[in-house]
Amino acid sequence: MFDTMTMTKAVGAICGSFLVFLLAGWAGTSLFTVGVAHHGAEGEEHAQAYTIETGEADAPAEAVEEGPDFATLLASADPAAGEAVFKKCAACHKVDGANAVGPHLNGVVGRNHAAVPDFAYSEANIALSAEVWTAEAINSFIENPKKYMPGTKMAFAGLPKAQDRANLIAYLSTTK
Ligand code: HEC
Repeated sequence: MFDTMTMTKAVGAICGSFLVFLLAGWAGTSLFTVGVAHHGAEGEEHAQAYTIETGEADAPAEAVEEGPDFATLLASADPAAGEAVFKKCAACHKVDGANAVGPHLNGVVGRNHAAVPDFAYSEANIALSAEVWTAEAINSFIENPKKYMPGTKMAFAGLPKAQDRANLIAYLSTTK
């Protein structure tokens, strides 16, 4: 029935399809692997964010990965460097006892939440008014205001560097 030429073509076609199939499979696997690797990396980022969030309270092994904990940074913090960081806050906050976009921050370390009488605080902050702004609380707040206090009026993205936050809080501690 088939002559040699037809057989050759048929075999060639089958081999060709098989090759395409293999290549497609290989490409598919690579894409899939990249996708998985990517998700893996994201997972690690989330895990890392989670570590930072909770690492302060315990787990010294994690603290080694993160660098010194907040208490250590604060103990050696530099108020003069913090005054320079305060420029990021000065658009909204004063330390001369007067309110602006935000409440004045004189003596804020150790002050209760939402304690300046003539400032229109958010409900979220007023709800916390029994709590003191400890150095640790301010540290968490200014790292990520909306995460610490969902519903806050403070439209500030956050200070990512722990050293900047420690220096800044050391500076704020000097305001009375
Ligand atoms: C865009 C304006 C803006 C910037 C920038 C800003 N804040 Fe605020 N801040 C506010 C407002 C508004 C509030 C009141 C928040 C509320 O009631 O929810 C506030 C509240 C606060 C409070 C709580 C005070 C209290 O009496 O309860 C602290 C502490 C604070 N800010 C620190 C800082 C620091 C430190 C920086 C700089 C890293 C900063 N803020 C940057 C607007 C700002």
